[in-house]
Amino acid sequence: MMIDDNAQILRIYKDYNGLCTATAKEIAEQLQRKTDSVLGLPTGKTPMGVYQELIRMHREEDLDFSKATTFNLDEYLGLSPQHALSYGHFMEVHFFSQVNLQRKNIHLLNGMADNPEVECREFDAAIERAGGIDLMLLGIGRNGHIGFNEPQSSLTLATHVARLDDSTRDLYAGEFGSREKVPEQALAMGVLPIFKSRRILLAANGSAKKKVIGEMLSGKVDTLLPASLLQLHGNLTVLVDAEAAPE
Ligand code: GLP
Repeated sequence: MMIDDNAQILRIYKDYNGLCTATAKEIAEQLQRKTDSVLGLPTGKTPMGVYQELIRMHREEDLDFSKATTFNLDEYLGLSPQHALSYGHFMEVHFFSQVNLQRKNIHLLNGMADNPEVECREFDAAIERAGGIDLMLLGIGRNGHIGFNEPQSSLTLATHVARLDDSTRDLYAGEFGSREKVPEQALAMGVLPIFKSRRILLAANGSAKKKVIGEMLSGKVDTLLPASLLQLHGNLTVLVDAEAAPE
């Protein structure tokens, strides 16, 4: 990929606030253009400020989610949405309970599904039925994962049960109390539904993400750095704060 292309893909903001405001504005504009937009949503520290800004816009500027549909990227296998560390709980607290999305339009992978394989197939079918994702918001792991598509010799296209990388479990050991308590597996939206999204925004902040942002935009594609695949997507924007901006 040419440097010039990268210049268009990458947008650098002064700080986390600027990054979140700009990212939320993109999502709001998508919803204003198409009120029944289908959004792909992440969890993590990065999007928290984006959700806060969207909630503010909903309260103060009447940003309307009533016709929108959402699909979340992932969930830990074995955690119910009531579990304080589940992604379902995260989304409920930080976003869903504070905007006017209709419950029937919210799609979360169920970490307690009797048959996780069936759960994944039904999730992909629901994305298809909704007409695919209009706007996908992604974070990025320090190891280059997107959702829970971890670095591997091959990546899985469909939504699937994924094994968490050792480095990912190490990172979340503090949150869960110990590394052993971090679930070993998760349900992860596959690379294909992510890739078929008509527009992808990837947001990253902080110096811990600087290296991986440089690598994902290096002009090389490597399944050991899943986010690097996104360089092939025709409508990707990577939004970073100054600390996460590559050299
Ligand atoms: C988790 C999630 C990803 C997220 C990543 C980065 O691993 N499965 O979807 O992008 O964390 O999280 P953070 O924004 O907290 O750095």
